[in-house]
Amino acid sequence: MNAIIIMIALCGLSAEVFGAVYQADSERGQALATAQCESCHGNAVIAMAKQFPNLKGQKLAYLNKQLVDFKAGLRLDPLMRSQVSALSSEQLQDVARFYSQQVTPNLSAN
Ligand code: HEC
Repeated sequence: MNAIIIMIALCGLSAEVFGAVYQADSERGQALATAQCESCHGNAVIAMAKQFPNLKGQKLAYLNKQLVDFKAGLRLDPLMRSQVSALSSEQLQDVARFYSQQVTPNLSAN
């Protein structure tokens, strides 16, 4: 019995010491997207400048990986490196979650 109580206490302690897994917040992600990302990745621009990839409806794991890679310099693009360099890991996860929850526009209509 004592051993069980100690184990439960240790589990609680380790969650506090190591921090729980971050829960990405798509509302914060939307605010960041509106302020910083839409100028290039918005719907209106796709028709004009096809070099800016669509992000809406893209898979969450893919977006997270690309953002981490841009920041780490594993995926090279000068525009995107400067976009993510000042953002925290939490901000990257927020904005990835926001874009993954959007409906993909009809790209073939352009
Ligand atoms: C100044 C224009 C510009 C801004 C602003 C910008 N991006 Fe980008 N982004 C690009 C370009 C150009 C590419 C394509 C890079 C390449 O070809 O490798 C890209 C690629 C990406 C990709 C990879 C997409 C794919 O299909 O592989 C992601 C994810 C991304 N951007 C997220 C963001 C986020 C999130 C923000 C806001 C924090 C942002 N971008 C702001 C220009 C921009």
